[in-house]
Amino acid sequence: MSLTSLLKVAAFTLCAATLSFSAQAQLKNTPMHANLPDNATTQQCLMCHQSYEAVAQKTAKMNPNPHSSHRGDQNCTNCHSVKGKPHFECNDCHSFNIKMKGE
Ligand code: HEC
Ligand code: HEC
Ligand code: HEC
Repeated sequence: MSLTSLLKVAAFTLCAATLSFSAQAQLKNTPMHANLPDNATTQQCLMCHQSYEAVAQKTAKMNPNPHSSHRGDQNCTNCHSVKGKPHFECNDCHSFNIKMKGE
C-alpha cells in the first residue's frame, strides 16, 4: 500500500469516528469536511469517498438511488453543498419523495 493510500485510510477511519455530527446541511459543519474548498471538485470528494459506486452502495436502499441514475456520475456539489444550501437536483425534473439533509 502506498503512503498516500495509507494516509487516506487513516483520514477516513479517524473521520468516521466523528460522524455523530452528521445531521448538518453544510458539509463544512462536519470535522472531516472542514478543510474542503468551497468549490471542491468531485475528485476531491472521492479522495475519501473512493468511487461513485462506493457512495451508491451507501444509498442502495433509496428509491431511486441518488448516486446511480440515468444522469451518470455528476458533480457531487450539484446536490451536496460545501458551504451553502444543498439542492436535490433530480427534483428539478421529477417529484421524488427525497430531500437533501437541510434542504
Ligand atoms: C478528508 C476526507 C473527506 C473528504 C475530502 C470528503 N469527505 Fe465526505 N465524509 C468523510 C467521512 C469519513 C464521512 C463519514 C463516513 C461516511 O459516511 O462515508 C463523510 C461523510 C459524508 C456525508 C454523509 C454525512 C453528511 O455530512 O451528511 C456526505 C453527504 C459527504 N461526506 C459528502 C462529501 C462530499 C460531497 C465531498 C466533496 C465536496 C466530501 N464528502 C469530501 C470524509 C471526507
Ligand atoms: C443527485 C444528487 C446527488 C449527487 C450528485 C450526489 N449525492 Fe450524495 N446524497 C444525495 C442524497 C439525496 C443523499 C441522502 C440525503 C442526504 O444525505 O442529504 C445523499 C447522501 C450521501 C452520503 C451519505 C450516505 C449514507 O451513509 O447514508 C454520502 C457519503 C454522499 N451522499 C456522498 C456523495 C458524493 C461523494 C458524491 C459525488 C461523488 C455525491 N454524494 C453526489 C444526493 C446526491
Ligand atoms: C433534466 C431533467 C431530469 C433530471 C435532472 C433527472 N431526470 Fe430522471 N428522467 C428524466 C426523463 C425525461 C425521464 C424519462 C421519462 C420518464 O420516465 O419520466 C427520466 C426517468 C427517470 C427514471 C425512470 C422513470 C421514473 O420516473 O421512475 C428514474 C428512476 C429517474 N429518472 C431518476 C432520476 C434521478 C435519480 C435523478 C437525479 C440523479 C434524475 N432522474 C434527474 C429527466 C430528468
